[in-house]
Amino acid sequence: MGLLDQPRAKLATLPTPLHLAERLSAELGGPRIYLKRDDLTGLAFGGNKTRKLEYLVGDARTLGATHLITTGGAQSNHARQTAAAARWAGMTPVLVINSSTPQPALQGNLLLDQLFGAEIHLVTSEAERAQKMDELAADLRDSGAVPYIIPGGGSNGVGALGYVAAMLELQGQLYEQHIAPKRVYFAAGGGGTHGGIAVGGALFGVDYDLVGVLVEDTSAEGIERAFTVAAWCAERLGIANPVDKAALIADDSQVGAGYGIPTDACLEAIRLLARTEGVLLDPVYTAKAFAGLIADIRAGMFTADDSVVFIHTGGAPALFAMVDMIAPILG
Ligand SMILES: Cc1ncc(COP(=O)(O)O)c(C=O)c1O
Repeated sequence: MGLLDQPRAKLATLPTPLHLAERLSAELGGPRIYLKRDDLTGLAFGGNKTRKLEYLVGDARTLGATHLITTGGAQSNHARQTAAAARWAGMTPVLVINSSTPQPALQGNLLLDQLFGAEIHLVTSEAERAQKMDELAADLRDSGAVPYIIPGGGSNGVGALGYVAAMLELQGQLYEQHIAPKRVYFAAGGGGTHGGIAVGGALFGVDYDLVGVLVEDTSAEGIERAFTVAAWCAERLGIANPVDKAALIADDSQVGAGYGIPTDACLEAIRLLARTEGVLLDPVYTAKAFAGLIADIRAGMFTADDSVVFIHTGGAPALFAMVDMIAPILG
């Protein structure tokens, strides 16, 4: 089934703006940095998950779902946006949240999950998530409801369609604004965004590099994940996987001590974008991704005349749950 025929719920405010960040570009001494504002997709503070959820909720509606079940950590942006999307579609949100503490702080994303009235089921580790979701789905089926399970991060072939469509949108904007970027940067976690971008990039014949900056794991693992999701996504589209695995780029230079642990470079990026452009990055995903771009600029990869695009995938609600990390950079 081609992209246009895929069931889609019009959740997002699109197209998101693509604009030149002049002060930021000047501060970093070039290249011309364009921000693709997917933090402004709408739906409960926006972010990349809105695009994925357009296709996931579309699929769920086609199947007659009454409940959306998904999973993540206490500060999962995906869980927050899925809870909102469920309410938007008249479904009940059910969240399996893994937390090492029995009472995670009621802040940021978790606060919003509860405001959406999500049914929250705590598990102690990531390893328990999938089984718990299956159990909850079985119970719901027994009671006559129709559950629809969305994997963590919405990173499956259906969710990735959102970023195939995003590449079409980006290509149109680049054409309209006469921008020929050398590279496009974005944060990469579960691989759904990267997989969709890679499929879109291949289908629409982009001639710039697509750089997923990892927030966990190694470059080899990031490439494997993106390629796997790309294959699922192509299958959903009914085409052979158009992605050349050897051309995938997954930069693991910004992971630091691990997922969710801020690095000095990511904290510098948060402060820089806030103070030059009034744009909020988050410490888990987007600040590490932007730090990857800064590192490449400082390594001399670009001239002042080059253009690059940074796809801002959202995540700012988590800032409120990370006061201890942010406070030291306020001065
Ligand atoms: C703000 C933000 N950016 C980027 C990502 C990475 O997206 P993906 O899981 O598709 O790699 C996430 C995932 O949760 C996110 O919340």
